[in-house]
Amino acid sequence: MSSGDGASKKSKKPRYSRFTQQELPACKPILTPALVMASFISLGITFIPIGVSHLSASEQVVEIREQYDEICVPSNYTNPTTAHQERIRFIQDSRTDKTCTRTLTAPHKMKPPIFVYYQLDDFYQNHRRYVKSRSDKQYRKPRSETEYGDCDPESTFNNMPIVPCGLIAWSLFNDTYRISVNDIAIPINKKDIAWKSDKTHKFGSDVFPKNFQNSDLVGGAKLNESIPLSEQEDLLVWMRTAALPTFRKLYGRIETEIEARDRITVVIQNNYNTYSFRGKKNLVLSTTTWIGGKNPFLGQMYIIVGGLCLFLAIAFIIVYLIKPRPLGDPSYLSWNKNPPAH
Ligand SMILES: *[C@@H]1O[C@H](CO)[C@@H](O)[C@H](O)[C@H]1NC(C)=O
Ligand SMILES: *[C@@H]1O[C@H](CO)[C@@H](O)[C@H](O)[C@H]1NC(C)=O
Repeated sequence: MSSGDGASKKSKKPRYSRFTQQELPACKPILTPALVMASFISLGITFIPIGVSHLSASEQVVEIREQYDEICVPSNYTNPTTAHQERIRFIQDSRTDKTCTRTLTAPHKMKPPIFVYYQLDDFYQNHRRYVKSRSDKQYRKPRSETEYGDCDPESTFNNMPIVPCGLIAWSLFNDTYRISVNDIAIPINKKDIAWKSDKTHKFGSDVFPKNFQNSDLVGGAKLNESIPLSEQEDLLVWMRTAALPTFRKLYGRIETEIEARDRITVVIQNNYNTYSFRGKKNLVLSTTTWIGGKNPFLGQMYIIVGGLCLFLAIAFIIVYLIKPRPLGDPSYLSWNKNPPAH
């Protein structure tokens, strides 16, 4: 307060500087036809090669996707008129055999690392009450066990705290995959699939699961109580909630090369109940390049924008050649070429 008063008593006029007097050097380009055409042409010829290289990188990604939620329900459960109820009955019955074997063929050679994802469709991890149902304090420190945040209704079991609490953790995905190539089992590396910051900062290395999935209503996978939360990478991946209803989450990595036309056999434990809300489950195997996974969108956009710039440049050149407008003659701007004389 006092310093402000002092300043205002001295003088209202700001001290001279080139900034306050707006005397800084400035560049005010005049949009001459040549400049406009040149800038459109240069945009076009830089964007199109960028787009082509993105698109070709995206084309090099080899991706296999297999939707297995319907096909993994045994045929005696698919009475067509009541298929939906039958599938729910199958997935909720703890006695049914949930093992399911799918055979895929590699379309091209796949270089390691090959990423294994599960993809859920129509699963709204972004639902307002679901996404809040967590307690980051509890996950971080052992002495914050009872800081439930918005975890209800999954915060206590028989008045004892559930760690990790909340609906997100409770609904942890619990399908598992075993993969073999040409009948040779190959390991899926599940180390380092979660974000490093989640492991080091968000989830404590001295917080252990407690009373988790103990109630009658089991929402998903169980957790090993002797492993701290920061090492439960499947949980960490799941807890990083997806923004869209169709999402992929990393399951693991294959470090072995797969040749073209190799037979990939996946043994799926089809445990997770997406049937009651008609969600879909997919298994995805994908390689990566420098742009990441398969995503032609960015490349296509570069090519479209670059092409548009070139098209505009050419259109301007043609218009300019046919009907040039002398610079600095404002009468050319009015529709009537012969303004009335005053
Ligand atoms: C389907 O067959 C399996 C064994 O093949 C059996 O356990 C199960 O009860 C059958 N389900 C129905 C709905 O018939
Ligand atoms: C997997 O999750 C479902 C709920 O989606 C649950 O009913 C089932 O008991 C769980 N199974 C295992 C083996 O964890």
